[in-house]
Amino acid sequence: MDTLTALTHRVSVPRLTEPGPTPDQLRQLLAAAIRAPDHGMLRPWRFIVLQGEQRERLADVMEWRLLKRQPDADPNARENLRGKALRAPTVIVAVAEITENHKIPAWEQVLAVGAAVQNIMVAAHALGLGAMWRTGDLANDPDVKPRLGFADKDQVVGFVYLGTPAVEPKSLPDETPDQFLRELPRG
Ligand SMILES: Cc1cc2nc3c(=O)[nH]c(=O)nc-3n(C[C@H](O)[C@H](O)[C@H](O)COP(=O)(O)O)c2cc1C
Repeated sequence: MDTLTALTHRVSVPRLTEPGPTPDQLRQLLAAAIRAPDHGMLRPWRFIVLQGEQRERLADVMEWRLLKRQPDADPNARENLRGKALRAPTVIVAVAEITENHKIPAWEQVLAVGAAVQNIMVAAHALGLGAMWRTGDLANDPDVKPRLGFADKDQVVGFVYLGTPAVEPKSLPDETPDQFLRELPRG
C-alpha cells in the first residue's frame, strides 16, 4: 500500500483478534514510531510492548485501580475490566517521558509521542493489521504511572491495541478538508 493511501484510508478497528503482529511487523511499527518529528531531539517516546501472557500485567494494573476506587467491586466487574487488557493480541503502551525544565515545553514532548503513536496506527494499517488507540481513565490517573514504571511528570499517551481485524473495516466518514479550513483574521 502506498503511503498516501495508508494515510487517507486508515480507520480504527475496535475489535481485534489473533494473530497479532509478527516480530518483524512489530519492529516495523516501532521503527515507524521513532521517525516521528521531535522538537529538540529529546526522544520522549517510551513503549511497553505486551503480548500473550504479558497482558495480564496490564490487567493487574486495571484491576488494582478499580479496587483502589471501589474496594467492594464485584468479581464480574473485576473480570470485565481485566478483559479489556486482553481484547487484542498485542498492546503497546506509549508514554511520554518528559524532560523537565527544558526550553521544549512538556506539551510539545507529548505531541511528539502522539505523532509516534499515529505513525504506529498508519504503519499497522499499511501492513494489513487492525489498530485502535485508547486512553480512558487509566491514562489520566497519576497513581497508574508508577505502576507502569514512570514518574508523575510523565504522560501516558495511549494504549495501542493491535491485531487482526475481527470486523469489516468501517467506511470512511463523509468529510472533506474544506470544512476544517479557516481564514486568518485580518488586522
Ligand atoms: C489520544 C486519543 C485517545 C483516544 N482514546 C479512546 C478511548 O479511550 N476509547 C475510544 O473508544 N476511543 C478513543 N480514541 C478514539 C479512537 O482511537 C478513534 O480515533 C475514533 O474511534 C475514531 O475512529 P477513526 O480513527 O477510525 O476515525 C482516542 C483517540 C485519541 C487520539
